[in-house]
Amino acid sequence: MTKDKGSQRGRHWPTVVDLFSGSGAVTTALKRSRFRVVAAVDNDPIACATYRLNHRSVRMFQHDIRKVDPAIIRKSCLKGEDLDVLVVCAPCQPFSSQNRKRGTDLRSTLILQAGRFAKTLRPRIIFFENVPGLAARDELLDQLKEELGEDYILGDPERIDAADFGVPQRRIRCIMLATLRATPPKLPDPITPKGARIDVRQTIGHLRSLKAGEVDLKDRLHAARKHQDIALKRLAAVPKNGGSRSSLPPELALACHTGLGTGKFSDVYGRMRWDDVAPTLTTGCTDITRGRFAHPDDDRAITAREAALLQTFPPDYKFTGNGSEIQVQIGNAVPVKLVEALTPTFRRVLAEITR
Ligand SMILES: C[S@@+](CC[C@H](N)C(=O)[O-])C[C@H]1O[C@@H](n2cnc3c(N)ncnc32)[C@H](O)[C@@H]1O
Repeated sequence: MTKDKGSQRGRHWPTVVDLFSGSGAVTTALKRSRFRVVAAVDNDPIACATYRLNHRSVRMFQHDIRKVDPAIIRKSCLKGEDLDVLVVCAPCQPFSSQNRKRGTDLRSTLILQAGRFAKTLRPRIIFFENVPGLAARDELLDQLKEELGEDYILGDPERIDAADFGVPQRRIRCIMLATLRATPPKLPDPITPKGARIDVRQTIGHLRSLKAGEVDLKDRLHAARKHQDIALKRLAAVPKNGGSRSSLPPELALACHTGLGTGKFSDVYGRMRWDDVAPTLTTGCTDITRGRFAHPDDDRAITAREAALLQTFPPDYKFTGNGSEIQVQIGNAVPVKLVEALTPTFRRVLAEITR
């Protein structure tokens, strides 16, 4: 359980409203950096249950964001005062290169809700996090500028790799900052550039080795999926520490993937490498048929706890839902350490912007 009390009481701590709060990764990072999260909005009941479990004192608005009235947040959570930081981590699927319907995905316009909240809450900084595909949506970004109004300057989308910011995972994202009547800042320089990365071993190497289907009774989230016999045979044939399905003998090769050795599915059944960062964790991050999500040594997929640690959630973070619901929440999260690395920049900007 992350500590809640001080962060919610500290008067001098900058205030935050977390839109599209999911299971609470961004909130966790901001609370750890001494920001005071006063309200969160998300419409997914499972993610909201997880959020409440870990952040009991934040007022949760479990609704479609389009139905939430920011004036209520202003009145009841900010006592009528202006806000410091508005977080907008809108769904990324509409901008993802893997979404074949992305041109017509109605969720793409949810990011524009930032304008409606900014007009009422008057934040000094607005923090947007999304996938790099957002940067190519010129029309939408123009619309966003219009929705934010003349008081806000929207910075250019910046492409960053979370691995550069203390996250043991390659995760290329797009960050944008908008600021109230001020020039948006540049993002900080990498704190863990190539050569100084945090790797998989440092992050999950201390956890108990498990067989497929086995549960660590000391931590119910460290529970290995069961695999069918054929999957176990394949896993046993994939070399330890970074091996790929290309090493499978013909009798174990996957019929549907034959001939696709270097292509789209080459990571399926692949193992992570101890001395490297993990691949991007997706909403299928504990499923070996959806990416390079096998453990470096054990013949199994990584557990939800391992996935949560690779997303830099605190080691005691609690999740609600079944296995697939938990992997979706973890895959959707913004890495905690990435946001923590940005908070000195937020503080500097807050100090510079007077209302
Ligand atoms: C990228 S995830 C956010 C991750 C989150 N910020 C974190 O730190 O873990 C996007 C979130 O948007 C939520 N969402 C999608 N459509 C929504 C809507 N119409 N209203 C409110 N929330 C919505 C999803 O439930 C999901 O939790």
